[in-house]
Amino acid sequence: MSFDTAANLVTGYGAMSALFLHLGLERPSAVDRTVKRTEKVLIWGVSSSFGFFAAQIAAIAGYGVVGVASGRGAELAKDAGIPYFIDRTMDSLVDDITALGPFKAVLAAADTAEDQVKLGAALAKLGGGHFLSTMGVRAGVILPEGVTGDFMQFLDDYLEPANKDFTAWVWWDFFERIFAQDAVKSVPLEVMGGLSKLPEAWDMLQYGKVGGKRLIVSPDLD
Ligand SMILES: NC(=O)c1ccc[n+]([C@@H]2O[C@H](COP(=O)([O-])OP(=O)(O)OC[C@H]3O[C@@H](n4cnc5c(N)ncnc54)[C@H](OP(=O)(O)O)[C@@H]3O)[C@@H](O)[C@H]2O)c1
Repeated sequence: MSFDTAANLVTGYGAMSALFLHLGLERPSAVDRTVKRTEKVLIWGVSSSFGFFAAQIAAIAGYGVVGVASGRGAELAKDAGIPYFIDRTMDSLVDDITALGPFKAVLAAADTAEDQVKLGAALAKLGGGHFLSTMGVRAGVILPEGVTGDFMQFLDDYLEPANKDFTAWVWWDFFERIFAQDAVKSVPLEVMGGLSKLPEAWDMLQYGKVGGKRLIVSPDLD
């Protein structure tokens, strides 16, 4: 694969520890990818690099994946074979999530305080639950009774000696095999240009103009 694609896909380490160390999913096999499970996994922010990778890995592990993103992420999710998609901008969001539950695990890969309130409401309607957020529960968010959310620093998992077997499995077994098989897609990559493009790239990110793709600034292009 290209260097750019590889540089994007390796950030999947975060999704791996989120799903298999913290959310308790069964590890997938890179050899037999036909396993199917009855449980569902909710990935909020499925069009983010983190969420897109997590959704594909949860699917390889056999779970029914429900992806949430703004409507422009629907095609991306479909292309990656993610079976259920919910548009987070719809008024029916909380009911849409509830209708597809319950969930074995909930990962908020990209979310806001407002999203967490909605996610909390949906989980409360399902009888309570837990979600792991890549940025943690936002300041000021009060979750309903029976709903909890937390944060983990995923890189630290790979520096923890007690996780030695997990680290070896991720990097030297699972990743080696699925990348060789081309079994996981990267979000589309857009090369902006050299360092002079940084301000423009930052502005695009800040104003929410980047959806379902990764911007690349390559210093040697100026
Ligand atoms: N805890 C850790 O150790 C750790 C490690 C790595 C990354 N992270 C964090 O993980 C997050 C995701 O990283 P990334 O590299 O995947 O980011 P990214 O690809 O730049 O995420 C941008 C995408 O998120 C979607 N998005 C934005 N706001 C959203 C919302 N409120 N709900 C759902 N989707 C939303 C956007 O799509 P649409 O607007 O089209 O839906 C856009 O496609 C970042 O906040 C990063 O800091 C944490």
